[in-house]
Amino acid sequence: MSCDLPIGVFDSGVGGLTVAKEIMSRLAGERILYFGDTARVPYGSKSKETITEYSRQIVRFLLSQGVKVIVVACNTASALAVDAVRKEFDVPILDVVNPGAQAAAQITKNGSIGVIGTEATIRSGMYSKLLYSINPDLNIYSKACPLFVPLAEEGWIYDSVTKEVARRYLEEFQGKGVDTIVLGCTHYPLLRNLIRDVVREVLGEGITLVDPAVETAKKLKQLLAGQDLFSGKEQVPEHTFYVSDGAEKFRSLANSILPCNVIETKDVTIKTFE
Ligand code: DGL
Repeated sequence: MSCDLPIGVFDSGVGGLTVAKEIMSRLAGERILYFGDTARVPYGSKSKETITEYSRQIVRFLLSQGVKVIVVACNTASALAVDAVRKEFDVPILDVVNPGAQAAAQITKNGSIGVIGTEATIRSGMYSKLLYSINPDLNIYSKACPLFVPLAEEGWIYDSVTKEVARRYLEEFQGKGVDTIVLGCTHYPLLRNLIRDVVREVLGEGITLVDPAVETAKKLKQLLAGQDLFSGKEQVPEHTFYVSDGAEKFRSLANSILPCNVIETKDVTIKTFE
């Protein structure tokens, strides 16, 4: 495996850019090859079989371009598809759910954790399963927040409509005493300021929001070190962005999220990677 190859990162849309951003800030010399499945977003309302097939196609596409490691920057694909996909491809594949669960279990002081994510992620029970395997005495409360993804994709990141939606969802945790909430969807850190304010309003002060993206970037750094895969470059590299639809809309959102200038986003017919 060549150290010069980029890191493949994928999500159903723009959410994975929150992971790409953390990777860029911690691994400044690494090139990223990003794929956002904008034609088929959201994944969160789809079945395990469909999400697994989509993930397979994307991994094939990333490998066809040449990548040294793949980061599944999507909690839904991480929760439902990663196990199957890991068995099929000979490339290191990192998910975002394991690092997020480990961080939440370490951060909580009173053992009560809220998890928010897509319908599919919450239905999979993956966060609860991992958290209970780390500490069976934890109390886990989960809530699917399906409207957050379209609101984030629309760029309504601090909007009164999004705020009202957040109130309705987060009221679910009232009276549960959670001191930690996992942002269990990579789109949600885009709404982080709004979620933080609504959490204060609805649940009170002192609740920590856990962003699995940060933990995943740390894990990636360890993996590259362990497998001797660092690029060894120091200058800011050129990243590449692909989507399955709406390249121009994606480019403008990406430029509002990332610290680099996204000059071009290319379209890929992803379903041909069967
Ligand atoms: N951003 C993704 C996640 O982390 C998926 C959102 C969706 O496509 O529903 O779950």
